[in-house]
Amino acid sequence: MLSNLTKKLFPSKDILGIDIGNYSIKIVCFTEEKKVLKLKDWGFIPLAIKPDTSPEEKKGIISQEIKSYIKKRGLQAKYAATSISGNSVIVRYVKLPKLSRKELDLTISVEAEPFIPFDIKDVNLTYSILNDSTEEGEPKMDTVLVAAKKEAVQDKIDVLTAAGLDPLIIDVDSFALETLYEQVGPKGETSPVLLLNIGQKVTNLSIITGGVTRVVRDIFIAGATLDKAIVKALKCPVDAADTLKKTKAVLVSDEDKEAAIENFDKEGIMVSKAASSVLKDLYTEVSRSIDFYLSQGGDHSISKILLSGGLSNMANITRFLSSEFKVPVEQINPLSFLPEADVPKNMPKDVLASLAVATGLALRRMKDWAS
Ligand SMILES: Nc1ncnc2c1ncn2[C@@H]1O[C@H](COP(=O)(O)OP(=O)(O)OP(=O)(O)O)[C@@H](O)[C@H]1O
Ligand SMILES: [Mg+2]
Repeated sequence: MLSNLTKKLFPSKDILGIDIGNYSIKIVCFTEEKKVLKLKDWGFIPLAIKPDTSPEEKKGIISQEIKSYIKKRGLQAKYAATSISGNSVIVRYVKLPKLSRKELDLTISVEAEPFIPFDIKDVNLTYSILNDSTEEGEPKMDTVLVAAKKEAVQDKIDVLTAAGLDPLIIDVDSFALETLYEQVGPKGETSPVLLLNIGQKVTNLSIITGGVTRVVRDIFIAGATLDKAIVKALKCPVDAADTLKKTKAVLVSDEDKEAAIENFDKEGIMVSKAASSVLKDLYTEVSRSIDFYLSQGGDHSISKILLSGGLSNMANITRFLSSEFKVPVEQINPLSFLPEADVPKNMPKDVLASLAVATGLALRRMKDWAS
């Protein structure tokens, strides 16, 4: 009783990073003890929302899941950070005329309008100035514009509020990944790195050079695309396709392929074919973004690719993509910065890579909170 009252009067300042995806909700919370970050809690809540569920019902289900989770875990957290991605947000790296911050604050919607494919009235617009530059002798500023659809932001606020939380920030998936990479990547790295967070409906792509994100894009090729391809090839239900992704592999080497033939693993061969075709489409889209990055003056090609998100767990996916891109491809461990003893033993291996965005969200708040 008394402890409940204390919780209400002095809510914990810790922040829950909550990544609400189409496949699952991921929750990460850190706490700082003597300037050392500790993992306070983590959660992975699978969502099996039927396709015919209305958006309002969907919001209700998600809030309820988060609420029950917090209760079950006895978490005292009041504050939360979440993010949006996909069609609800546009991130553009553009050159704007050199203006003072005051001037830009007044004129940002006019300056941004040509770059934003939504009605400017329907979006929350923010910007950040990266550095000064010039264009045809004119002084300019390299600026990142972020336009988030008001409706999508409000939806996230509603979901968290209904779960009893105070939504402190609505971030963008790709920026959460940048925050994560700041924490787990090598310090002082200057060569460009490409992050691919492959989820259910969306793959978030970021190219980061010297700690700054230079290209951000969401590609609509991900787990659901592979489900569709498997359903089509094997004429199986979508649930079965989901399981097959987790039990079969992308067959990369001749030995892998021969072994599958010798074992009469017809399903394995079909799943691998479907996966190769989907991953080749993904490769084409990612290559376009790399070309774009290079055309914008990026002077070094991508040095490595780091994968996260649920689909990054598919067996052999790193080998397959590495042989396509001809650069090293690795899966990222979002918790690699914690002392080993702090990484929970009971966390399934395939959950770890799915926690990338939620970890970035939780870290970002720790950083902002401190400053
Ligand atoms: N072990 C595994 N092997 C292969 N695929 C997996 C594995 N675990 C999860 N997946 C796949 O990863 C996808 C879900 O990834 P994730 O949880 O990152 O998505 P999400 O964040 O909920 O979705 P989105 O960001 O697109 O809204 C699903 O397609 C799922 O089948
Ligand atoms: Mg996701």
